[in-house]
Amino acid sequence: MLKFGVIGYGYWGPNVVRNLDQLDGSEVVLVCDKSPAARKRVQKAYPHMKVTATSAEVISSTAIDAVAVVTPVWTHYELAKAALENGKHVFVEKPFTSSVAEAEELIAIAARKKLKIMVDHTFLFTGAVKKIEQLLEEGALGKLYYYDSTRVNLGLFQHDVNVLWDLAPHDLSIIDHLIHDVPEAVVATGQTHVNSHEDVAFITLYFPDKIIAHINVNWLSPVKIRTTLIGGEKKMLVWNDLEADEKIKIYDKGVSMSAHPSNLHQLLVSYRSGDMHAPQVEQVEALRTETSYFLQCIERNKRPFNDGVAGLRVVRILEAADKSIRSRGEAVNL
Ligand SMILES: NC(=O)c1ccc[n+]([C@@H]2O[C@H](COP(=O)([O-])OP(=O)(O)OC[C@H]3O[C@@H](n4cnc5c(N)ncnc54)[C@H](O)[C@@H]3O)[C@@H](O)[C@H]2O)c1
Repeated sequence: MLKFGVIGYGYWGPNVVRNLDQLDGSEVVLVCDKSPAARKRVQKAYPHMKVTATSAEVISSTAIDAVAVVTPVWTHYELAKAALENGKHVFVEKPFTSSVAEAEELIAIAARKKLKIMVDHTFLFTGAVKKIEQLLEEGALGKLYYYDSTRVNLGLFQHDVNVLWDLAPHDLSIIDHLIHDVPEAVVATGQTHVNSHEDVAFITLYFPDKIIAHINVNWLSPVKIRTTLIGGEKKMLVWNDLEADEKIKIYDKGVSMSAHPSNLHQLLVSYRSGDMHAPQVEQVEALRTETSYFLQCIERNKRPFNDGVAGLRVVRILEAADKSIRSRGEAVNL
């Protein structure tokens, strides 16, 4: 039985506590939150669980094997570092850290101490992303052309990071997982309106082989949209994550061009418009699959695919995107 301490019981923390506590191979023995109201909520939901206001109590506890860090981004490095230094495996929220340097340091400590880091890139464990991965691997879409995501809603404003660091890690981790390549350059634009952090931002990623990815993130949208278009040479798909059923629709549509048989300077464009179909998408809670995978990785001494290095790849793009925003959209090479 793996014993967990969880630090942070705000919006996302309750999901992490519930999943870690319900798994067969683990239990949550201590939850830490600075806020008395949050600790009260833990006690009401789990009367048997211990609570504390001090993270050091979790980190130094000899009864704890692994720590989940579910606090704001600027605290991840400090808390994860202390946990690793004290011999605990770490499950840390996205984005992994606030900088590349911090991520590299945590990876080095974990390697030295032979401990696991898992970064909560939750979407990688959703039925939708697993299905898209399968379609790409089977070559159902043909050669990949583009990934274009819109992830917008009103709020929730974060106080420590801009909208890019809050919402884009989801798409960046998905893109990293699906494309199996690192981008060559990043172009990003954004603007601050309500406070000093960008609340509207757009990122473009240039990959080798002409693959392009675009992400639109916005805290000032009147409506919530979670729609991604993925286009390939053979087929295209639309993933609407807000749909209860038929989240993914695959369109047998495409364009091809060829030279005119009698006039080589004239191009013939032909559009293909075939059927649409919506494949079955697994409906298990992603965080359940992910936390269970974390236990497996620890038990079997396996490297998680969403480890610190995967977290670092996302943070590296976020850092480059921030740099590009400062210069109003100059390309930053990676
Ligand atoms: N994986 C996902 O889908 C997902 C979804 C939402 C949030 N998140 C991530 O989870 C993290 C937390 O986000 P949230 O929305 O739950 O934030 P939140 O502000 O609602 O909750 C954070 C909690 O941490 C507590 N806290 C802060 N510093 C602490 C410290 N040093 N010691 C003890 N407690 C401390 C606060 O009192 C608060 O209750 C962020 O990194 C965010 O990006 C991930």
